[in-house]
Amino acid sequence: MNAIEIKDLSKSFRGMYAVDHLNMTVPQGAIYGFVGENGSGKSTTMKLICGHLVADSGEIKLFGRDYTDAGVRVRVGALIENAGCFPGSSVYQNLMMQAINLNLGNPDEEIKRVLEIVRMEDSANIKFKSCSLGMKQRIGIAMALLGEPALLILDEPINGLDTDGMRIMREILVDITKNYGCTVLISSHLLGELEKIATHYGIIRQGRMIMEMSAEEMDSRAQVFVSLKTKDMKGAKAVLRTKFTDVREEEEYIRVYDVDDAESIVEHLLKNGHVVSEIKKNKIGLEEYYIELMSANDKEAV
Ligand SMILES: Nc1ncnc2c1ncn2[C@@H]1O[C@H](COP(=O)(O)OP(=O)(O)O)[C@@H](O)[C@H]1O
Ligand SMILES: [Mg+2]
Repeated sequence: MNAIEIKDLSKSFRGMYAVDHLNMTVPQGAIYGFVGENGSGKSTTMKLICGHLVADSGEIKLFGRDYTDAGVRVRVGALIENAGCFPGSSVYQNLMMQAINLNLGNPDEEIKRVLEIVRMEDSANIKFKSCSLGMKQRIGIAMALLGEPALLILDEPINGLDTDGMRIMREILVDITKNYGCTVLISSHLLGELEKIATHYGIIRQGRMIMEMSAEEMDSRAQVFVSLKTKDMKGAKAVLRTKFTDVREEEEYIRVYDVDDAESIVEHLLKNGHVVSEIKKNKIGLEEYYIELMSANDKEAV
């Protein structure tokens, strides 16, 4: 069963589509990276799923049921924009207010549980306003985790965090899916931020889903290339072009694209009298791939 299934979803503001006939499938147990530039419709989509906004048209199903179904709504936790905390109250007090709002049976235990998940069990008495950005983001996640949701919706929770904050956030999200069986929908305007954790990707552009695939599929699309140096770069390039289709000179290296086998390149060059002085295998990162994909899409749009 899929945690989220969206068909043909649209939402416009003043006659402009923010979400434009969007389709989306989030399998249960996934960490689904929802990626797109600022203004592409990520937050609007998430608000629609959470019922904070009403769609013009389309269908949203959560765990196979209509998203308005009360039984399914209580299984969704969300952090969109900010946690809506009271700055002068402590972390614990803020969580308690939310636990009361949710009518939780054992709020104290539940708060302890979520603080442990976000690794803030020792920070319960700190005032919200004294927390760092990384802590505030984690409190937001703790809020969303109250009541043991089966689906967690997080809008750019990594945005603005330092390296350490990002690492902790990644570990928390992996923990939530692995050990609590939760599905996570997480947005970012940077694909690279999600590269280490996402199991699936959806790329949104101008309100439309332009690509949806698993991390493995995405990985296999990221291009490999071999870069090398020789004394006679021009000559070597010409020789390489007799055997390989995509040979370019970039950043002082000859790059042979879509080739993983460095040996065959060295052999071919040697046979033709070129000695390789430096060689390495590379892979275009997902971020680069994403940027290429975006610009390819630009060209299509023209
Ligand atoms: N409440 C609103 N009123 C008018 N326009 C909005 C509103 N919310 C979002 N938009 C517009 O919808 C588009 C998508 O916004 P948003 O979903 O916030 O994108 P993202 O989260 O990807 O940055 C943007 O052009 C934005 O200006
Ligand atoms: Mg947004």
